Amino acid sequence: MAGLPLSPGPSNDAGRGPDRESTTICPSTLRDGGADGAPCEPLIRLRRVTKSYDTGSGPFTALRDVDLSVPAGVFVAIVGRSGSGKSTLANVITGIDRPTSGEVNVAGTRVDVLSQRQLALWRGRNVGVVFQFFQLLPGLTIAENVVLPMEFCGTYTVGDRLPRALELLDRVGVRAQADKLPSALSGGEQQRAAIARTLANDPPIVVADEPTGNLDSHNAEAVLELFGGLAADGKTVLMVTHERDVSHYADQVVTLVDGRIGGVSERADRPPQKQTGPAAAWSAAGGSHG
Ligand SMILES: Nc1ncnc2c1ncn2[C@@H]1O[C@H](COP(=O)(O)OP(=O)(O)OP(=O)(O)O)[C@@H](O)[C@H]1O
Ligand SMILES: [Mg+2]
Repeated sequence: MAGLPLSPGPSNDAGRGPDRESTTICPSTLRDGGADGAPCEPLIRLRRVTKSYDTGSGPFTALRDVDLSVPAGVFVAIVGRSGSGKSTLANVITGIDRPTSGEVNVAGTRVDVLSQRQLALWRGRNVGVVFQFFQLLPGLTIAENVVLPMEFCGTYTVGDRLPRALELLDRVGVRAQADKLPSALSGGEQQRAAIARTLANDPPIVVADEPTGNLDSHNAEAVLELFGGLAADGKTVLMVTHERDVSHYADQVVTLVDGRIGGVSERADRPPQKQTGPAAAWSAAGGSHG
């Protein structure tokens, strides 16, 4: 599909320069890894991020002193045991959660200091969030769900919004379902529609918390391929997952252990990109019902 802007996102002046303290996801094998020797410029940078929750039995620390830098155009999988802090990490990056201490710098913005109103606008333009249970608005058609973020943020002209929504739905393979309500779609179709909605404002960053958790293996694989395609197009993708085979798709796998980064593994090989984009990834994977 031609014509859809999938730009790598806005230029980012924040957080330049090397950071010896951070877990820096910037291996030489990655496309932004500086083949010309240029340093990686992180699109996402966390410095000493700690998140504690008040519980009945005292404070509970879900993230401890996390340092992380992720450059643009990389597909990062966040893995770890249940309760290790994966969702908390995703949520402090998107601003859904505020860290107790530390700095969260995303696409040039200190996310941890924004007001709720600033956050909503910032998120609408910079981060697409994909959830396990899709969270499409049940009273709106699929196309209307995709148009909504453009209306909220005032992006694109009024006349361009629906054609763009349909183009995005085409891209993820559910154009034919555009006029249906979410309840009329299978789980796999709803997740694809949710991903199209995520792309509505062309965000440089996509954050997904177990987006395949409610899908069969066939549709899960198609979602992973789709995210890989987004990263190949220049988007930065962070995905929390329990998928065992994620290392085939993600450039990096970050393992959380008890709220700390326990390790980062890099995919040794990058399979040749047979498809030209996520729509092809969907059809190649035969993704349909989930
Ligand atoms: N609002 C909260 N109040 C208190 N504790 C919380 C809260 N949210 C999360 N936690 C705790 O923080 C820890 C990390 O939670 P988190 O949801 O990030 O884990 P996770 O790695 O995503 O787990 P899962 O794989 O089960 O989704 C857990 O022990 C959880 O119980
Ligand atoms: Mg979780």
